[in-house]
Amino acid sequence: MKLIAGNWKMNGSLEANDALVRAIAAGMPPSACDVALCVPAPYLAQVQMLKSGSKLELGAQDVSQHAQGAYTGELSASMLREFGVRYAIVGHSERRQYHGETDALVAEKAKAALAHGVTPIVCVGETLAQREAGQTEEVVKRQLAAVIHVNGHCISEIVVAYEPVWAIGTGRTATPEQAQQVHALLRKQLAAATAHAQSVHILYGGSMNAANAASLLAQPDIDGGLIGGASLKAPDFLQIIAAASA
Ligand code: 13P
Repeated sequence: MKLIAGNWKMNGSLEANDALVRAIAAGMPPSACDVALCVPAPYLAQVQMLKSGSKLELGAQDVSQHAQGAYTGELSASMLREFGVRYAIVGHSERRQYHGETDALVAEKAKAALAHGVTPIVCVGETLAQREAGQTEEVVKRQLAAVIHVNGHCISEIVVAYEPVWAIGTGRTATPEQAQQVHALLRKQLAAATAHAQSVHILYGGSMNAANAASLLAQPDIDGGLIGGASLKAPDFLQIIAAASA
């Protein structure tokens, strides 16, 4: 079954969330794929309540590598669990870029999530400069290798998201072939670490929308999507869910 995860990023309000989550829950097809909403932390309790009775799962956008203690501003995996959080995005390119997150830190965050029953959605992806320099394979492999190194024994429990940085929020989507090529590489890398690589979800993210979702999701190694902008509009997000549920 495919997984469609919405990453709201720093968007939303009590009022807007209420309308959005109700519309998504009401519009879910009867045999929908797995769907998660990764919402800003202050809204976890609200969305936990709004989604109850639906198939929607709750996600966070980050998690601390620490279990507890003097880490001002951080959120632990066990706190997230208390609000019914099932997924946490780790290593999003916006956090790597604006918060200096390293491959090693991302691996530790994935470990902390796994230790508390939260599934990390580990983001990898190259910048435009790296793609143009022919470094795509090297970059995504290095990013995933760090996570495998620290979490080898339970690596089949993670979700991977391939998000080419140049496709995020730009309207410039990777072609299905470009995305599939990288997904296949990531699958091969996982297969070297676990016998269950086939069952690991590898999501595509980067300007996925209602119009291009079906062709991306038709690729053999694209097991779902991590959706930014289009996850904030119920009709668009529902069309992506429908494409993934077909
Ligand atoms: P967009 O869908 O807005 O390009 O964002 C993708 C993304 O970064 C999801 O994590």
